[in-house]
Amino acid sequence: MAKEVTIIAGPHGLDFAKTLAEKLQAPLIRAESKVFPDGETYVRLPSRVETAVAVVVATMYPGQNDAIVEAMLLAEASRGAGAKAVILVAPYMAYTRQDRRFLDGEPISIRAVLKALHAAGVDGFITVDIHKEASLADFPGPSLNVDPSPAIAEYLKSIGYTGDDVVIIGPDKGALGRAERVASKLGTSHDYLEKFRDRVTGEVTYRPKTVEVKGKRVVLVDDIISTGGTIAKAARMLYEQGAKEVVAVCTHGLFVSNALEKLSSAKVKRVAASDTIPRLPEGVDKYSVVGLVADSIDYMVKRVL
Ligand code: R5P
Repeated sequence: MAKEVTIIAGPHGLDFAKTLAEKLQAPLIRAESKVFPDGETYVRLPSRVETAVAVVVATMYPGQNDAIVEAMLLAEASRGAGAKAVILVAPYMAYTRQDRRFLDGEPISIRAVLKALHAAGVDGFITVDIHKEASLADFPGPSLNVDPSPAIAEYLKSIGYTGDDVVIIGPDKGALGRAERVASKLGTSHDYLEKFRDRVTGEVTYRPKTVEVKGKRVVLVDDIISTGGTIAKAARMLYEQGAKEVVAVCTHGLFVSNALEKLSSAKVKRVAASDTIPRLPEGVDKYSVVGLVADSIDYMVKRVL
C-alpha cells in the first residue's frame, strides 16, 4: 500500500522526507522553492504525482510560519499535479501550545492553523507527539498522533538506561502518559512531578508523586524542550531529593536561546531529541521516529481515499 504514495517536500521537510521515502520505498518529489523579493513563498513540483496519494512532509521548526505556508502551497500543488488525496506529515507541529484561550481575546491558534491546512487541500493529518492529543479534534479530517515512546525506549536501551535503578519521570502531570508508555517498554518504574507547598513556609517544591528517586538514575521525558526551563527546574529538584543522575529525553528539541547551558548548569548529564527537528545542537543525541511515522502511512491512506 505504501508504495502507492509519493512523498513531497520543500525545504522544511526534506531531511525527514528523504528517510521516509527510503523506508516506504516510495518516490520523492523535491519541490523547487524560492522566496519572492517581497517575502512571499514560491514552490513548484517539477514532476506529476503518479500515485493517488501525495504525502507532503513539512516540519514546523525552525521557521514555523513559513513552514505552514509551504505545507499549504505543497498540498494545493499536489492536487494540481494529479494527486487525488493529500496527507500532511508534520513531524513537529507548531502552535500546539496555544490550544485554548488563556486570556479573553486570544485565538485557539492550533485550531486556526489546522483548519487552514485542511482548507488548502490536506485531507489527512499525521504528527508526532502533539502537545495535547485533544487538539487533533480541530482538524476537520482524519488525523493521527504518532507515539514516540518505542523509539525513546530503544534509545534508552542503547545507552544502558534499563534496570531497577532507573525511573522515568514526566516533569508535569501532562507528561505522565508518555513516561508510563516508555517505562512499560523498559520494565522500569515511572512517575510525574507534583507541586507541593509547605503550609508553614509557603515554599513550593516539585517531587515525584509516589516514587522515591534517592540513589536512582532518572530520565525526564517531555514532549518539547524549548528554553530548557522546565527540565532544568525539574532536574534541580530531583538532585535535591537524592537522584544519582538525571538525563533528559524529549521528542521535539527546539533548544531556543541558551537552553543547553541551562540544562548543563542543572547537571543534566545527557540530552536527547528525535529527528522531528532536522538540526539539533552539538552534544544532543538524536534518535529517529521516521520508522514509526512510516508505519502510520497505510492507516491514513485507507482513510483519505
Ligand atoms: C509544557 O507544557 C510542555 O510540555 C513543555 O514542558 C514545555 O513546552 C517546555 O518548555 P521549556 O523548555 O521552555 O520549559
